[in-house]
Amino acid sequence: VVLVVDFGAQYAQLIARRVREARVYSEVVPSTMPVAEMLAKNPKAIILSGGPSSVYADGAPSVDRALFEAGVPVFGMCYGFQLMATTLGGTVDNTGAREYGRTPLAVSRPGSTLFEGTPAEQSVWMSHGDACSAAPEGFTVTASTDVVPVAAFENDEKKLYGVQYHPEVMHSTHGQQVLEHFLYRGAGIEPTWTPGNIVEEQVAAIRAQVGDKRAICGLSGGVDSAVAAALVQKAIGSQLTCVYVDHGLMRKGETEQVEKDFVAATGANLKVVDASERFLNALAGVSDPETKRKIIGREFIRVFEQAQLEILQEEGPEVAFLVQGTLYPDVVESGGGEGTANIKSHHNVGGLPDDIEFQLVEPLRQLFKDEVRLVGSELGLPDVIVQRQPFPGPGLGIRIVGEITKERLDLLREADAIARQELTAAGLDAEIWQCPVVLLADVRSVGVQGDGRTYGHPIVLRPVSSEDAMTADWTRMPYDVLAKISTRITNEVADVNRVVLDVTSKPPGTIEWE
Ligand code: XMP
Repeated sequence: VVLVVDFGAQYAQLIARRVREARVYSEVVPSTMPVAEMLAKNPKAIILSGGPSSVYADGAPSVDRALFEAGVPVFGMCYGFQLMATTLGGTVDNTGAREYGRTPLAVSRPGSTLFEGTPAEQSVWMSHGDACSAAPEGFTVTASTDVVPVAAFENDEKKLYGVQYHPEVMHSTHGQQVLEHFLYRGAGIEPTWTPGNIVEEQVAAIRAQVGDKRAICGLSGGVDSAVAAALVQKAIGSQLTCVYVDHGLMRKGETEQVEKDFVAATGANLKVVDASERFLNALAGVSDPETKRKIIGREFIRVFEQAQLEILQEEGPEVAFLVQGTLYPDVVESGGGEGTANIKSHHNVGGLPDDIEFQLVEPLRQLFKDEVRLVGSELGLPDVIVQRQPFPGPGLGIRIVGEITKERLDLLREADAIARQELTAAGLDAEIWQCPVVLLADVRSVGVQGDGRTYGHPIVLRPVSSEDAMTADWTRMPYDVLAKISTRITNEVADVNRVVLDVTSKPPGTIEWE
């Protein structure tokens, strides 16, 4: 393993991910972890991330000198670079000269361990206030910028390396190559790791964690829970039970996908709870979006916990584990834990005893979404599950503006299925982050179809492009695809006589309409 020590960088997870892209396994650990504990993990190399502080700020995170003396190759980036410089006797000045963004880097030793085969002049991504003016003894300065005399240094004898910039971001044109040079040439690591290794490692870890007890997993139909469940299923087989609550707000074919494709690919024990009536009853007469969300959330937990309770009462070993598809971006605290945090189950109407505690199994905690997809494919899950676009937990319930009824859900399901089919047929799935299809149930407009007047509802198409759903732009998609979707929806879906396109970015609009 290669450890990425997180100094509060927004980039720490990205570094870990770049290392994995270089086919070397890596994990992030917090900078507060004692050096002895880091070394106990037997790392083949350690990377010190950037961070928001100045090395001279009060309370700035530091690192024990022992880290550099353990014979483990170390690569410092940005803050990590400055920390390495000051800890080992170099000079870092608070010059007031800031560099931010794309910066030209002049490589003075083109044949060095880090820079071999990269151009003498390259573009790198900088983000710092302090600057290193003298490298520690025994280090060779291998690159500089107009502002920073020491932008990279290397010590081949001690296997210590550092760069002032961020090689992990894509704006550093040769960043990945420099990182790989550190890993392969500096640290002598063989690039042998693949997502398949995650499967093996996690299967072993899950077996060790769960032992002969049982585990349960809630399936949402989304990618993350499906991959987590498939991984745990591979590890402990029939000791796992998956619970899928069908709230009747799913899209066309979704429940069948879980029932057939997921089970076919994994052989998992699946408990499907058809709770659509219950949800529809609870939602009857409600059109306020927040109230809908609250009702759906509440009912979901009730049904899910009722199902849990039934599993707990079944004969068999103790049910002690709850599987969750938490991904790295979901892990709020930095450093990623060992996946064994204790949580108390929700106090529920069905009456789970107060003292029941589940241990969490979170096999995807160190991964990014696209890595999770790779793992899913590796586990044999079909593309319809693994390549799914995001879909909100409350489902179509928040895509009907107005009251939710079975008829309206059926109508929206048809329109949504047509839009999805045509987007897929046009090869737009990768380009579009997601495309909510919304029914304006409280709006009617006049139309003409055949020889008659119609008075039907509009359907809104909301195709968006995004990186993380925090911000989004509406997707400029081909008119002919829009035309085809519009024609098909108005022809094939009763009571819909108009299709409109939402051309609002986020902000000011959100992606979903409610
Ligand atoms: P908004 O509408 O806030 O959506 O721009 C951002 C992203 O989150 C999804 N979304 C949800 N996902 N439960 C979820 O699991 C929810 O209640 C929920 N609301 C919105 C939405 O589809 C988009 O990807």
